[in-house]
Amino acid sequence: TTSAAQFVPSGEDWAALRSAADGCRGCDLYQDATQTVFGEGPVPAKLMMVGECPGDREDTDGHVFVGPAGRLLDKALAAAGIDRSKTYLTNAVKHFRFTERGKRRIHQTPRRGEVVACFPWLREEIRVARPKLVVCLGAVAAKAVLGPSFKLTEHRGEVLEHEGLRVGVTVHPSAVVRAENFTEAFDAFVADLTALKKS
Ligand code: URA
Ligand code: SF4
Repeated sequence: TTSAAQFVPSGEDWAALRSAADGCRGCDLYQDATQTVFGEGPVPAKLMMVGECPGDREDTDGHVFVGPAGRLLDKALAAAGIDRSKTYLTNAVKHFRFTERGKRRIHQTPRRGEVVACFPWLREEIRVARPKLVVCLGAVAAKAVLGPSFKLTEHRGEVLEHEGLRVGVTVHPSAVVRAENFTEAFDAFVADLTALKKS
């Protein structure tokens, strides 16, 4: 089995973690991706948000949530009155997973094994950020934090207690981007974020 664990320095601060993550080979995803995209934001941070994995833009830029999903997230955070600059933003998996279709790189959902392999980084980010609330954006993030049997559809908008952590769950911004009824999906996402912010 593969894991990031052997690449994670113990007891280090955020900057040391971030630079160590550049050299992670804990699963195969580092091979085709451009770079590790580590989480960003203040440490400590009251609020932490966890996405799935970097997309095409994040992979080339090296920063979280800078592509289409990030723009949607920015709009939703603004509508919910959440300051992105005060929020620690990261992903369950730190490398882009994709397939090539011609010149286009199409995002693929990371496998469970990759999510598990990458979790030691997320655990360390939680340790240094010490968030009062961790908001999981989508099922991949929620299962990374809460376990593989977690069902997002049954708990959307809720805050759960898990291993001493308060964990809120909602959908992934990409699901809102793709939604058939965009306005309805956007409003529901903002409603979740607004409620979670107050929790
Ligand atoms: N989707 C994610 O889950 N994270 C990003 O950083 C970008 C897109
Ligand atoms: Fe390491 Fe995570 Fe990248 Fe896999 S996805 S190589 S575990 S940082």
